[in-house]
Amino acid sequence: MSEMTPYVLVLYYSRSGATATMAQQIAAGVESVPGIQARLRTVAPVSTTCEAVDPEIPAEGAVYADLDDLRNCSALALGSPTRFGNMAAPLKYFIDSTSSLWMNGALIDKPASAFTSTSSLHGGQESTLLTMLVPLLHHGMVYAGVPYSETTLLETQTGGTPYGASHLAGTRSDRSVDEHERALCIAQGKRLARLALALHAMRQEAL
Ligand SMILES: Cc1cc2nc3c(=O)[nH]c(=O)nc-3n(C[C@H](O)[C@H](O)[C@H](O)COP(=O)(O)O)c2cc1C
Repeated sequence: MSEMTPYVLVLYYSRSGATATMAQQIAAGVESVPGIQARLRTVAPVSTTCEAVDPEIPAEGAVYADLDDLRNCSALALGSPTRFGNMAAPLKYFIDSTSSLWMNGALIDKPASAFTSTSSLHGGQESTLLTMLVPLLHHGMVYAGVPYSETTLLETQTGGTPYGASHLAGTRSDRSVDEHERALCIAQGKRLARLALALHAMRQEAL
């Protein structure tokens, strides 16, 4: 596809791999929609040691996001493991570097969604998803959850919320993304891709 093909930025942080797996499923959902691509990006860990540096290219997985990845996307799927009921610091650190995009309104009218993974079922999936939404609203993005027409929401005994895809990783953070959780990731990616194309067309018309 050409450089002009719109893309959904699937931006996530993951330490033990669960959120990374969800990101891949969301990307699969995005890419099942013709005319749009998924761009997987991650962020570096942050450290209390100011001198700590990370290699420019991570040893494995997605490469690190830069501001242009976000500026030029047609939609954003933001994924984080739950940390004390909220998003992880490395992702928040990246978001806190986006003031120039906010000042230029670069993300206004672009759809966004969030996904998360927790160790325990009632350990804060919903609070994490809802608080991840807040900076996206400041950016003028249009938030998309998962509607109950996705009947998997009624069937799952583990992750999956109307606020966004979620995953139960277990106390050792080693539980795989199950069938229901995966289906909801894919559905969320598909929905975001469709909305991205529709709002992309709307913004083009307004030019
Ligand atoms: C500092 C810290 C705080 C955490 N807080 C929570 C929490 O509030 N609720 C919860 O269920 N799990 C919590 N966890 C567990 C992570 O959410 C869990 O390991 C996550 O699903 C792993 O995702 P990943 O494989 O993408 O790194 C926490 C883990 C760490 C390291």
